[in-house]
Order: sequence, then structure tokens, then C-alpha cells
Amino acid sequence: MSSFATWTPKGGVGKTTFSVQLATMLGYTYVTNDEYCSAEDKFEKGKGFLVPEGHHEIPFADKVVFDLGGFKDERIKPLLEKVEKVIVPTLDSEYDIKALTSILKALSTMNSSVVILINNIEPDYTNKENKYHEADRAENDIMKIVEDNKLTFKSLQFVRIRKSKGYKTLIKENASVFDYCKDNGVLLNRFRNIIEDMTVFRNTVLN
Ligand SMILES: Nc1ncnc2c1ncn2[C@@H]1O[C@H](COP(=O)(O)OP(=O)(O)OP(=O)(O)O)[C@@H](O)[C@H]1O
Ligand SMILES: [Mg+2]
Repeated sequence: MSSFATWTPKGGVGKTTFSVQLATMLGYTYVTNDEYCSAEDKFEKGKGFLVPEGHHEIPFADKVVFDLGGFKDERIKPLLEKVEKVIVPTLDSEYDIKALTSILKALSTMNSSVVILINNIEPDYTNKENKYHEADRAENDIMKIVEDNKLTFKSLQFVRIRKSKGYKTLIKENASVFDYCKDNGVLLNRFRNIIEDMTVFRNTVLN
């Protein structure tokens, strides 16, 4: 039994998209502290919850994916200490990676198991040797932050997610890519990258 959290104070980097994917893939409950997120409404009864600002605590339970935004929300830290892994979505730009420093420092003091999800990756076809050199650079930069600040974690893993239009459909339908393709007879080809990336994501989180 375990629960997971996606957390980053940065907006619009994929917290909700990948929390919903993870919750639906694993059959877990979805819980968010984000009042502006409407994902919880779309889950079937009892499977999606919003804990509004007034509640003094976000209750911990097994088999939950917590979708957590913000730094100032004091209810977040106790949850991050309880979950099995913290998933931190980020974009791959130098600016975004630098902004991860304070987040990594906070997670290191909690001795968390961390999965850094490098999101929105676009292959660079002009680079024949390595079309994913930007993602490589992002991972190297993160490892440098870890070393320079002598940060330690229970574990540190990376997962790479390619940019794909299909995520908009999945979030609208509140469905895991596997269920969506099965139920709608969708040409798997259209969702092939997502299926590949979500398979790696699930395996990384569960390993
Ligand atoms: N890999 C991807 N490819 C294409 N679009 C993506 C990808 N990841 C996220 N998006 C899109 O980016 C937007 C922001 O994603 P999402 O809502 O999951 O971010 P968030 O971190 O939860 O944002 P917020 O801070 O507003 O809660 C959404 O429209 C989503 O569909
Ligand atoms: Mg969100």
C-alpha cells in the first residue's frame, strides 16, 4: 500500500495531467488542494476530492495520488513526508531547472524519494546524433544542483515525457491513456507516445 504526490509550486507544468494519469492507471483516489482545478469533479463518486483552503489538514490515506500546488500551504509538508514518492514535474529550460533548486533542497531535508518528471520534451530533429539533447542537459543540470548543494534523497529518479496533444483529451475525459484507447477504439497510433511514456512513468513510480 502506498500513496504518491505530485508537487511543485510552479504553475502549468503538468501536476494535474500526470496526477490524473497516475490515479487512473493505478485505480487510486485523486486529492487536490487546488481550488481552481476542476479535475476532482470529473472522477466517479468517491474517487476525486478537493480539500479547500479552510480545512486545517489534508488527510493522508493509502492509495491516493495528491495533486499539490503552492509553497505556502502549510498542509503540504506533512503529506510529502508520508507519501512513498514525490513526483516533481518540470520543463527542461535552464530557467526552469534553476528554479528547482529550492524544491530539491526542501525535499532533501525530508529525505524523500523523488521522481523528477521532465515534461513537454520535443525532439530536436536537426541534431542527428541526439534528438533528446535538451533533456540530457536538463538531467545533467539537475545532478549538478544535487552535487553542488550536497543534497541527498532516499532515491532520485527521472522520467521523460514528450509533448503530445493527446493529453488535453485525456484530462477532459479524466481517463488513463490505456482505458481511453480501450474504450474508444482509438487508433493506438495517435496515442503511441503517450502510451510509451505513461508505461515508463508508471513503472518508475512503482519501482
Ligand atoms: N506533455 C504534454 N504535452 C502537451 N501538453 C501538455 C503536456 N503536459 C501538460 N500539458 C498541458 O499543459 C497544460 C497545463 O498542464 P496541467 O494543468 O497538468 O499543469 P498544472 O501544473 O496542474 O497547472 P496548474 O498550476 O494550473 O494546476 C494543460 O493544458 C495540459 O494539457
Ligand atoms: Mg493543476
